Amino acid sequence: MKAQSLYKIPSTIADNALVTDAQYKKMYQESIINPNGFWREHGKRIDWIKPYSQIKKTSFDAHNLYIKWFYDGTLNASANCLDRHLQHDEHKLAIIWEGDDANKQRNLTYSQLHQQVCQFANALLSQGVRRGNVVTIYMPMIPETIVAMLACARIGAIHSVIFGGFSPDSIAARIIDGASKVVITADEGVRAGRTIPLKNNVDEALAHPDVQCVEKVIVMKHTAGPINWVNDRDIWWESLITTASKHCPFEEMAAEDPLFLLYTSGSTGSPKGVLHTTGGYMVYAAMTHEYVFDYKKDDIYWCTADVGWITGHSYMVYGPLANGATILMHEGVPNYPSPSRLGEMIDRHKVTTLYTAPTLIRSIMAEGKDKFSHFDGCSLRILGSVGEPINPEAWRWYHEVIGKQACPIVDTWWQTETGGILITPLPGATETKPGSATRPFFGVQPAIVDNQGTLLEGKSEGNLVILDSWPGQMRTIYGDHDRFILTYFKTFNGMYCTGDGAKRDEDGYYWITGRVDDVINVAGHRLGTAEIESALVAHPHVAEAAVVGYPHDIKGQGIYAYVTLNTGVKEDEPLMQELIRWVRKEIGSIASPDLIQWAPDLPKTRSGKIMRRFLRKIAANEITQLGDASTLADPSVIDALIVTRLNK
Ligand code: PRX
Repeated sequence: MKAQSLYKIPSTIADNALVTDAQYKKMYQESIINPNGFWREHGKRIDWIKPYSQIKKTSFDAHNLYIKWFYDGTLNASANCLDRHLQHDEHKLAIIWEGDDANKQRNLTYSQLHQQVCQFANALLSQGVRRGNVVTIYMPMIPETIVAMLACARIGAIHSVIFGGFSPDSIAARIIDGASKVVITADEGVRAGRTIPLKNNVDEALAHPDVQCVEKVIVMKHTAGPINWVNDRDIWWESLITTASKHCPFEEMAAEDPLFLLYTSGSTGSPKGVLHTTGGYMVYAAMTHEYVFDYKKDDIYWCTADVGWITGHSYMVYGPLANGATILMHEGVPNYPSPSRLGEMIDRHKVTTLYTAPTLIRSIMAEGKDKFSHFDGCSLRILGSVGEPINPEAWRWYHEVIGKQACPIVDTWWQTETGGILITPLPGATETKPGSATRPFFGVQPAIVDNQGTLLEGKSEGNLVILDSWPGQMRTIYGDHDRFILTYFKTFNGMYCTGDGAKRDEDGYYWITGRVDDVINVAGHRLGTAEIESALVAHPHVAEAAVVGYPHDIKGQGIYAYVTLNTGVKEDEPLMQELIRWVRKEIGSIASPDLIQWAPDLPKTRSGKIMRRFLRKIAANEITQLGDASTLADPSVIDALIVTRLNK
């Protein structure tokens, strides 16, 4: 069977790899049998101010939940990413930056990055930011965004980075939740030749009547495009740092002190502020970055994720910088102005390690191999994939056209909540199968359970859970610890519930099958269907809405919205377009529906619950396999929806 074919480890990789298969098995076993001993050693990979003596204190019992790692140690995340490299690597490049326009290039050494972080940390202090305060960062993909994050970490402030694709309403909700006093932004961002009005979006967010907490907005001049200015509130980044000292001692943080907040979508309610703490997160991010990407000190490492997502946090900033790596940061998208941009950038910067998302691979693949006829790619060693299941066709294309059949692909499964990679091949240890995330990382105990929570053994399929804690795990939902327990530990008591389905094959390899809850994954962006539904229902003409994902060739999943209008409102094309714009305004462009279907009625049980199972099948055009409709209050609703779908 083609999808099951096994890809051997190229000898060029195997000969120099950090971990072989035998070592993986030995280390994995040790990490499970003796977690305290294992992590006592591996915790030492980062610098501690006060070394820890306590390692792991964790319980997944929903009635008595606690998660603590290295908990009597103290450290600083920014010092781990900067200061500790200054002695030997101060002139090593930390960041190679390329703009949306390839003619714009900037390089920063570790010493320059350190200096900028110290200056900006002093600037934050001068604006009244203190340890424990939440600072919102809404910035483009420029080095200053990393400077801002590390400056917060340096003084013990908690950063909350918001992806540039979110709308003013979404920004406002996150600012309110974090009670953020300071927002850091730029005049504009640039993406695929278009500017993104970051400062204007912040202005609009702050005009929201419920946003009362923000005192200062720090603005980085990036494009020099036109912006509004609010005296006494807005301050230019440049004016703050010209007077700021280049010396800034770092705060001594406890291992369990918060490092950052990052909002992510769940199956219900508003986005959750995922809280990560300092010690365990740093150990886990640094360690996974080293082993999963078989990191070597001369690597040029390129993670194409936006810094506004967890992949950007763990594998563009904290993991690689803690390891003293040289990262490539790109402001635009890797397929603009043409699909060959990705290959040109790899060759131009001699990239050794590329970490990207299946959606990008599929979009480039759709353009044809000839776009890569001039691509050399000989610098590449390791390819990574993240964010959604990678289909075997895209995997093979990545392997052949980008990797020239010489680079292992690490298909890394993880989540915002997990802080770092949990299931993945290791380049020198794991033979790969296209589409499988393969085996657990050290210390990670995945399992598959049925819907009753019974553990399934051997080859099986069901809900993916994790049985014990790992250091990079989130510690709470900011301001709502009960929701944290309810969301992750109550479904299957004593286990971390991932919300994903998975299969385990005869070799013990894991295959992620996608979300089992009402979360969808659109072009690698995670969205709650409930969020999109509430945005639609907030429109004055909409009575009800149900949103599902449907298979999409490039994005993996597209957004399909069934909309019931208020009585008397006409179902027409202009209203459809207005609703698409409306969702964009309420949430952001990433949530914009791909297809809207008018639904005079939605399929419901007699108790009024929407039966999404049917809606998913109809959206996917799988109308011959609808299954039992006898529990529906009115089965004829389904027939009406099918007729409309067929005419679409
Ligand atoms: O469904 C899984 C999918 O992305 C979800 C997590 O999304 P987010 O928190 O935004 O983090 C994305 C980056 C880590 C997971 O629950 N997912 C992530 N990686 C993979 C994946 N699905 C299949 N294969 C993967 N490698």
